[in-house]
Amino acid sequence: MLFFGGDYNPEQWPEEVWAEDVALMRRAGVNIATVGVFSWSNLEPERGRYEFGWLDRVLDLLHAGGIKVALATPTASPPPWFSLAHPEALPVNADGVRLTHGSRDTYCVSSPAYRAAAREIAGRLAERYAHHPALAMWHVHNEYGTDCRCDVTAAAFRTWLRKKHGDLDALNEAWTTAFWSQRYSAWEQIMPPRTTQYLSNPAHALDFRRFLSDELLGGFVEQRDLLRAANPEVPVTTNFVQGGWVSVDHARWAEEVDIVAVDHYPDDAGPGAEEETAFAADLARGWGGGSWLLMETGPNLIYTRGRMHAKEPGRLTAHSLSYVARGSSGAMYFQWRQPRGGAELFHSALVPHAGPDTPVFREAVALGRTLRNLSEVATADPPAASVAVTWDAPSWWALQAPGLPSKDIDYLGAVRQAHRALFRAKLQTDFVFPGVATGFGDYAMIVVPHLYLVSDEAAAAFRDYVAAGGHLVVTYLSGIAEPDTRIRLGGYPGAFREILGVRVVEWHPQPSGTTITLDDGLTADRWIERVETAGAETISLYAGGPLAGAPAVTRNRYGSGSAWYVSTGLTDDSLQTLLSRVAREAGAEPVLTGLPPEVEAVRRGDLLFLFNHGSVPADVGDVVVPAGGVRIRSAVEGPAVGRG
Ligand code: GAL
Ligand code: ZN
Repeated sequence: MLFFGGDYNPEQWPEEVWAEDVALMRRAGVNIATVGVFSWSNLEPERGRYEFGWLDRVLDLLHAGGIKVALATPTASPPPWFSLAHPEALPVNADGVRLTHGSRDTYCVSSPAYRAAAREIAGRLAERYAHHPALAMWHVHNEYGTDCRCDVTAAAFRTWLRKKHGDLDALNEAWTTAFWSQRYSAWEQIMPPRTTQYLSNPAHALDFRRFLSDELLGGFVEQRDLLRAANPEVPVTTNFVQGGWVSVDHARWAEEVDIVAVDHYPDDAGPGAEEETAFAADLARGWGGGSWLLMETGPNLIYTRGRMHAKEPGRLTAHSLSYVARGSSGAMYFQWRQPRGGAELFHSALVPHAGPDTPVFREAVALGRTLRNLSEVATADPPAASVAVTWDAPSWWALQAPGLPSKDIDYLGAVRQAHRALFRAKLQTDFVFPGVATGFGDYAMIVVPHLYLVSDEAAAAFRDYVAAGGHLVVTYLSGIAEPDTRIRLGGYPGAFREILGVRVVEWHPQPSGTTITLDDGLTADRWIERVETAGAETISLYAGGPLAGAPAVTRNRYGSGSAWYVSTGLTDDSLQTLLSRVAREAGAEPVLTGLPPEVEAVRRGDLLFLFNHGSVPADVGDVVVPAGGVRIRSAVEGPAVGRG
């Protein structure tokens, strides 16, 4: 069975509506509802006074309707009574301002009072519902990520730092505190990063982000353990968020959840939405080691920056099937019914303000049918990829520091671009995590964009990968520093210099949008570097500008493999050309050859999903895929087995 459903907030509605909800869910084939995410103040209206009756009725009603429940712990949004009783548990921002209640995520995860209250409410839910027949999984909290810089957090940060660095000398060295007289002579002098007069210390900022990720994880783990203890059969998860603001290192968190569950909201209303969807799904599958679950996406809206865009007919289906093709064990949405009020009163829903007689609900009904017909996919092998891209949250965070050589540096943008180029080259792509993994498997090619921080162990793993026959493509700003942001000396790209056979002695950051041409016709639009070859062969040269005639792209034979270096920010088309060339040399095959440019093919198990992102029908062998539509057929042979 593939999960199909989403966030359900019956506490926002009178009970009369609940029966209609269940009837509509049944009509759409919804088989799971996420309940209780933000219902702490309804479950515990006053400290110690619990009201579980309504939730009992909701769970029983869903169960009677054959609908499973992902039961949430409501700890992402403590009630007003809690914050008023424990003002010290409200988060403090970098300016030292204590925030107030009245939104959500108003908690400090290091606060003992908050942690105790969270354990208490989670424990009550566990006690009452751990054996409820509707319970399919626990959904702890919501999108962990709240940042706090209070004094309690400061103490927790110091404890974490002592464990990591051992003694102050090691910390002073790792943080290069000799710079600007920042040497610490007692642990108590160390604060969470707060607003400073001028540039702050990047190693300090990075350790704080690592600390915060671990601290939040501690909050998750303690709830997980008590939920597990109540019934070890029920999987426990929390929804990971994807996007521009991410406070936790999901590659690490993935080891602690029973199912990797991911929220994803593309923010491009154009064709970029499909590329973002593919990126998010491939990354989620990487975290999940092959399997994952789409926990939230917007059914009928794309939130672009500053405006909500209504999805065109068929787009809900295409996006949902894209996640499923890429390994999701279902498709879930935020949210079931659009609210009458509250901060997100116009946010996306399967049952919008206009009711079920709407395009979105009709499409959901058809999609429910499609997903039922695809139930065998739930147990199919994940998509198999022969190429991979690296992802490393600490490198992202480190490249958000002030004091970098260019304000145009964009880690997420660079990783997305690498993935997009492979997507357009029709290569099924995985992600690998050099910060947590020790080997890179059998990928024919691995692309390494902006991997700024590299440990000695990761550098050795890359060396082994190439020596054993792998093809590595490293882009500028990779290998530069050790995990604590200390620069690797002797020339960039430090950790990769030997396998790449190059030495970079100068950076020439160009404003993004600049036109840079290479002698073989490739073009770049940002950043150039002075590269000296030390064993590598030059593939292309800078054709003009300050580095005219100097190497721009190089290749080094190393062991049985090859390592390419891209010293400039290639445009999308040029990166696609280059990566396609390396993929050919590496023997990586697209899912299907000869596809029209606007058609995307994903293979999962024995099924082939064909997506037409164009505006006219596309002929793909024996199948015509309508504009904006999806066709699914056996990858082995035979006719289409499902329709979108
Ligand atoms: C998600 C979040 C939901 C809701 C949604 C907005 O990131 O988990 O609670 O805020 O965005 O559509
Ligand atoms: Zn705090």
